[in-house]
Amino acid sequence: MSEIRFHSGQTVPLEMHKARIVQKIRLVTPEQRLAAMEEAGYNTFLLKNRDVFLDMLTDSGVNAMSDKQLAAMMSADDSYAGSETFSDLEAKIREIFGKEYFLPAHQGRACENLISQSMIQPGQIVPMNYHFTTTKAHIMVNGGTVEEIFTDEALNITSNEPFKGNIDINKLEALIAKHGADKIAFVRWEAGTNLIGGQPFSLQNMREVRAVCDKHGIKTVLDASLLMDNLYFMKVREAACKDLSIREITLKISELCDVIYFSARKLGSVRGGGICTDNSEIYEKIRELVPLYEGFLTYGGMSVREMAALVVGLDETMDFEVINQGPQFIAEMTRQLQERGIPVITPPGGLGCHLDAKAFLPHLPQTDYPAGALAAALYIASGARGMERGTMSEQRNPDGSEPLAHMELVRLALPRRVFSLSHVAYTVDRIAWLYENRALIGGLDFYEEPKVLRFFFGKLRPKTDWPQKLLAKFRQDFGDSL
Ligand code: F0G
Repeated sequence: MSEIRFHSGQTVPLEMHKARIVQKIRLVTPEQRLAAMEEAGYNTFLLKNRDVFLDMLTDSGVNAMSDKQLAAMMSADDSYAGSETFSDLEAKIREIFGKEYFLPAHQGRACENLISQSMIQPGQIVPMNYHFTTTKAHIMVNGGTVEEIFTDEALNITSNEPFKGNIDINKLEALIAKHGADKIAFVRWEAGTNLIGGQPFSLQNMREVRAVCDKHGIKTVLDASLLMDNLYFMKVREAACKDLSIREITLKISELCDVIYFSARKLGSVRGGGICTDNSEIYEKIRELVPLYEGFLTYGGMSVREMAALVVGLDETMDFEVINQGPQFIAEMTRQLQERGIPVITPPGGLGCHLDAKAFLPHLPQTDYPAGALAAALYIASGARGMERGTMSEQRNPDGSEPLAHMELVRLALPRRVFSLSHVAYTVDRIAWLYENRALIGGLDFYEEPKVLRFFFGKLRPKTDWPQKLLAKFRQDFGDSL
């Protein structure tokens, strides 16, 4: 993947791969989409994939795999204990991250469970650039609390700050001064910070954080699930990384971390996860839990085929021409949205495009779940499925009150190498139509609200008959078209 300059002077992303296997998708009628949305309780997580045209819910486990990954799956060595494929994976992790020990897990949140159980004492704090939903849940279940110490720019929707995922060093120092280093379980970095729009941190900021941690004897943990995007942004946005290879940048990052964990549903584009470290004490503690929760130490809940594909996937992650496809498509989609005046997170990050639902639907209070409403409206208008990342995705406080999210976002994930630019253009067109008709979009209300991670299973209903009115306007404007 590279950006190619057209004769007109415009720069466009150009794929450095070709599709050799394809999957048919279908676009059902807007009437069917409204019925499907009703049935799904206005929660895009509960839609059936057969009713979805462009699945932009997530990149998790749905990136396109390469021919070499598929080929590797065929020669995986199947064995409960001592599989050769696991040894290959261990060696690849050692090569890429330079860490001695590796423990496999079935996915990212499983790593969070293992790390939280072994590294957090009740009452301890985990400072971080920003939380991810499952991370926070595991930290809380283990008696810890999350302290977000992002910089002031992090929550500015439109910004020129290239590294909105950075940690504010002054806030870190102040937190340690206030609570004492013993109260800090570890500092957590999240690469390609998911919930603030796939935003990266810089290598320089990591170094500054590590220096503070060293001064106080505090450990550092990296969530590397979205590392591939963060690596891309370091290479193109950070002068000091410009002349380094992706491998070199990865090793420099790794040197600053005591523990690295990842969801291989993202990193490596398979389905699985893992933890690596040089610290034998931490390794031994976590190792005890792996057979209990995941599986034997040489598979940890992953199939050997996924492990074999992960070995190749991690290697491909070190190729700039592979990892630049995602961010460059997202930048192009962001450009098209901005051209039409649609509020969207800038600078463009990794993972997907993020619509700013607060600015899109200023007439809706956060308690009406504007991001949830916009995601539902977009599905009805286009068959594209995005994900609510706002107040619906927050957990209620222990006293039952509802925290309002910092941002109300609709995430339109672009799983890597899955969609074409015409898919992007179609989605942008339907979003632009929705923007013109935004006054028609109303709020939502829970009628089934699970206590934990409510956004996964919760069901909502529209507060008025706005979805029917939206459908009527669609028919008026688009006639018989789908
Ligand atoms: N950390 C980050 C930064 C993530 O984005 C995710 C998953 C996890 C941890 C958990 O990993 O799903 O393998 O258990 N993010 C997915 C998403 C679910 O859609 O953004 P997992």
